[in-house]
Amino acid sequence: MKLFIKTFGCQMNEYDSERIAAVFEERGYFLTENVESADFAVINTCSVREKPYHKVESELGRLKKIKLKNPNFKIAVCGCVAQQDGEKFLERFDYVDLVFGTSAISRLHSLIDLVEQGERICDTNEGEDELTIPVFSRSKQVSAFVTIMKGCDNFCSYCIVPYVRGREKSRKPSEILDEIKYLVDNGVKEVTLLGQNVNSYGKGLDEKINFPQLLYLVNDINGLERIRFVTSHPKDFDDELIFAMRDLHKVCEYLHLPLQAGSNKILKLMNRKYTYEEYKEKVFKAKELIPSLALSSDFIVGFPGEEDDDFEQTLKAISEIKYESIFAFKYSPRPKTKASSFDDNVSDEEKSRRLNELLNLQSKITEKINKSYVGKIQEVLIEGKSKKDENQFSGRNRQNKVVNILSNHKLNIGDIVKVEIVEAKKNSLLAKVLEYVGR
Ligand code: SAH
Ligand code: SF4
Ligand code: F3S
Repeated sequence: MKLFIKTFGCQMNEYDSERIAAVFEERGYFLTENVESADFAVINTCSVREKPYHKVESELGRLKKIKLKNPNFKIAVCGCVAQQDGEKFLERFDYVDLVFGTSAISRLHSLIDLVEQGERICDTNEGEDELTIPVFSRSKQVSAFVTIMKGCDNFCSYCIVPYVRGREKSRKPSEILDEIKYLVDNGVKEVTLLGQNVNSYGKGLDEKINFPQLLYLVNDINGLERIRFVTSHPKDFDDELIFAMRDLHKVCEYLHLPLQAGSNKILKLMNRKYTYEEYKEKVFKAKELIPSLALSSDFIVGFPGEEDDDFEQTLKAISEIKYESIFAFKYSPRPKTKASSFDDNVSDEEKSRRLNELLNLQSKITEKINKSYVGKIQEVLIEGKSKKDENQFSGRNRQNKVVNILSNHKLNIGDIVKVEIVEAKKNSLLAKVLEYVGR
């Protein structure tokens, strides 16, 4: 039996897809990248903006054609759109067999049982998932995601995530550590700890633990080389975390701290609970204590009420902070959110114009920062090798930038090497190997 999985959205969904694949594997399924040859297809969906939401429909259209040829082919929809629309999927698409929400993976075995017997079902129950995730088999990789908490309690006014991922809940530290040890035993060198707001990790657990303390425990795992995390909410980003990042040598010098907008008026309407001045103070302190720190951020343009002057303040913020990279999106209203009742008064044309202006400014900053790496010695974790040229490898430095490497000796995936950056490209760096550090 063969399983095809297509994943949209964030790293949380990628992690869930690995968990889903493990359930199918236990039942004897193998993963395939060729949907035409699959017996079961799972679409893991994202609802954060209108665009990914609509991708689900086009993906389903493609699967329908396969089902017409092969009536035994089963189709499942899961993830955030499934959680949002639930039963509606079964009603609207009569060829969909299974809909399961973001808390249903722990019940997936019995759901597949029913589908294999020919039933059509929807499970979007919340709350029953205690977020106990036993160690599950993972595909071979050097860098892996590990979910440390689910849900979000922040209710930023534009955001659907609290409605489709439910309330915040932390995983037990012992479970997280067991999972990382298992991954390291299987070749993983780098983990990225996932949560919508990792800064509130630990709330509600019997044990007294917070996120910086968790970082200390993870840092102690033998054989693990690098630790990353996303996402940190600026309102909760504090000195204790900055000190942990500075003092723990496995924690990489990379921080994704989404600002969203530079104008305090817009930040207030977004319910972000910080001002630009507060944000700037924290970021500058982090940069001061961790000089090689790379920053990245998310921005929304064209939020309801965003005037030219507000947008100018976002541009000013980008110039002041000097991010290595950013993700920027045009605002789109999402069901149930507070902002969906605001007047979406910036035209799509204007949103596009602002998005372009912002991205143009950022690409100049990225180019400048990339050039500043030339001549520097960097540590790179090898993650891939070129199929065409056996002397060419690729990986990322500690600042999460892609580095392509030319090497005369053979390198292996999972190796850590010291390189000298010889050239800066638009979105990556080119380097030559100086020294082999180890595996
Ligand atoms: N928990 C993370 C990320 C959440 S979603 C955080 O707090 O940063 C990822 C990004 O999508 C957000 O940071 C935001 O920039 C963007 N986003 C969320 N809702 C959006 C909407 N309705 N319209 C446009 N962009 C949105
Ligand atoms: Fe959405 Fe805000 Fe929660 Fe991030 S912190 S997931 S943007 S509500
Ligand atoms: Fe999308 Fe759900 Fe992640 S809405 S961004 S897949 S939490």
